[in-house]
Amino acid sequence: VFDQKVDSIMQLMTLQEKIGQTVMFSGSGAVTGPTVNTNFRKFIKEASVGAMLNVYSAKGTRELQKLAVEETRLGIPLLFGYDVIHGFKTIFPINLGLAASWDMANVEKGSRIAAEEASAAGIHWTFAPMVDVGRDPRWGRISEGAGEDVYLGSKMAKAYVKGFQGEDLSKTNTILACAKHFVGYGAAQAGRDYHTVNMGEGELRNVYLPPFKAAIDEGVETFMTAFNELNGVPATGSKFLYRDILRDEWNFSGFVVTDYTAINELVMHGFAKDNKDATRIAINAGIDMDMMSDANRLYLAELVKEGKVDIALIDDACRRILLSKYKLGLFDDPYKYADEQREKEVVSKPAFLEAARHSAAISSVLLKNNDKSLPLSSDKKIGLIGPLAKDKENIIGNWAAAGDRGGEAISIFEGIQEYTKDANILYVKGCEIEGDDESGFQAAINVARTSDIVVMVMGEDYDMSGEAASRTNINLPGKQTKLIESIRKAVPNKKIVLVLMNGRPLDLSAEDLLADAILETWFPGTMGGNGVADVLFGKYNPSGKLTVTFPRNIGQIPIYYNMKNTGRPIPKNNPKEDYKSNYLDVENSPLYVFGHGLSYTTFKYSNVELSSETISFSDTLIASVTITNTGDYDGHEVLQLYIHDRFASATRPVKELKGFEKVFLKKGESKTVSFEIKVEDLKFYNSEMIFGIEAGVFDIGIEGTSDFEFKKTFTLTE
Ligand code: IFM
Repeated sequence: VFDQKVDSIMQLMTLQEKIGQTVMFSGSGAVTGPTVNTNFRKFIKEASVGAMLNVYSAKGTRELQKLAVEETRLGIPLLFGYDVIHGFKTIFPINLGLAASWDMANVEKGSRIAAEEASAAGIHWTFAPMVDVGRDPRWGRISEGAGEDVYLGSKMAKAYVKGFQGEDLSKTNTILACAKHFVGYGAAQAGRDYHTVNMGEGELRNVYLPPFKAAIDEGVETFMTAFNELNGVPATGSKFLYRDILRDEWNFSGFVVTDYTAINELVMHGFAKDNKDATRIAINAGIDMDMMSDANRLYLAELVKEGKVDIALIDDACRRILLSKYKLGLFDDPYKYADEQREKEVVSKPAFLEAARHSAAISSVLLKNNDKSLPLSSDKKIGLIGPLAKDKENIIGNWAAAGDRGGEAISIFEGIQEYTKDANILYVKGCEIEGDDESGFQAAINVARTSDIVVMVMGEDYDMSGEAASRTNINLPGKQTKLIESIRKAVPNKKIVLVLMNGRPLDLSAEDLLADAILETWFPGTMGGNGVADVLFGKYNPSGKLTVTFPRNIGQIPIYYNMKNTGRPIPKNNPKEDYKSNYLDVENSPLYVFGHGLSYTTFKYSNVELSSETISFSDTLIASVTITNTGDYDGHEVLQLYIHDRFASATRPVKELKGFEKVFLKKGESKTVSFEIKVEDLKFYNSEMIFGIEAGVFDIGIEGTSDFEFKKTFTLTE
């Protein structure tokens, strides 16, 4: 139906009007690159704009929509896109935190809420999810993804897309999702943003592509290009990526938008002679919409006239974009999303805030908890110290859309106030996040001396992660570690609980030695203070597990759980053995492994059983385990199933996550949990880029972390 409608409107369109549909400009607001042309109102009236970004209120979008609908010949509505990354107004934990919840239903629910709020403010399209696998903590954008694992990353991609797009795009509370950044962005050299990527096709296909494919399988409507080059070809100019893989292999029918000014950047990459040449390259590569390069508007018509661009490519791009507008119902009512009344009613609804609070709790990861330092008790005096204890600005993290920075967020201090009387909270800042000022140390030491337990809330500034926020040093910035040291020295026997907010894995080697307990809360969002306090006081028993490895030091990077074995793996009983794959100065293992996360209770895994020790290519294996809550609290546990393909025609990682399940167990309760492993799950791309399975022996294990020795095997036969 929509196809016919698109065809009929396209018959009326001039070439210039079709090109207009492929053009996107930024309104005022967040700018993440050069401002190319701000004359967007004039261009909208000339039917030279198809979409806008960074305009996000019912009033603002309505005003611009009116220009497109009432002042152009055909009245084609604009599409409004925005970075709704981890919430719109109600901000959820950053995406790396959401992943640590391993709760896909919750991720879907969070995106649903974000779509509800954003759509009421006139937004039709989010530039999310970012499904880039991230294995380098120096890279600031690791905060926006699901972490280092391809399997979990693919599940997360699906959950986000489902949440944003819902079942029916024509509903006013669903928005288009965008899988970004296609592809390899997370593998930028040395973690520097926008940097070069060189990667074999095997790694590309086995690790970096699957989350994008998963997004397509879930029906994602749009894709965004990546800023990086991949093996010598900038992504935005890559036919291999957009024509060969996306369209021909995967049959993607939605549209592709560039990242911000990425067409013009083909010139700086050294891949195009000038902006016009870059425009030719991008459309030929398969790019449909130009975000902020003002390239399509300026050059496409000329390129057609010169015979350098086939008009059919512009028709295709225009058709895809119009199709999305039809699916959203914009041709029936271009203003249906921009509804000031709905905006007032929907945004920051109590139920949404409650969901954000729950998300903050379930995303927190208890990295360490010696001598049951946590949970806190309400009748003890808490020495609350640190630059983030009263913070309301950083707590919502980067890319916080319309989130109120510094305003309505609940600080950790306020969260703690819900659990104890004010007289029990002795607060002092102690130091700033950055800088050399130690003048607050003495006051902090005094507070530590007079309190029963010390809670230090520390971390990064929100803008130390996210786009263009790479670091070569991933320690706690400024004098924060020194302040912990000073307090540890002054009160050697007092318990110190470190509560962290940060957008990446940090090097916590020093803090791990100084603190009795460490709770990683990422940037926990609008209701962060409440959600984190729920964990600190044991109302919610922590259940988060890392989805990214925390190294011992920066020199170990890249480090992730599913590395290859090498020809000279370290012997378990002598890891320092000479001429083995190790370091002279530090052990191979990270500080905190993928999948790690403690609870206030303990869990015992027993009786791992397989439905068969041998399966054929057409079988399914059922693996089950009994899990028992052996501790003193009810709680959730994330069961993780890993395999290891012992030998194959292309080497396979030492461990691969192939299933997970989050279960709730009351004290003393046992459950048997089963996983289904289909042969499909064992497929991989071999060195000839053939996707298939190979007969052989597999190790298998189910635990609450990736750090364990396999004890079971099964054999796959033809
Ligand atoms: O969506 C983002 C992208 O992830 C990075 N560059 C800017 C875009 C639009 O804001």
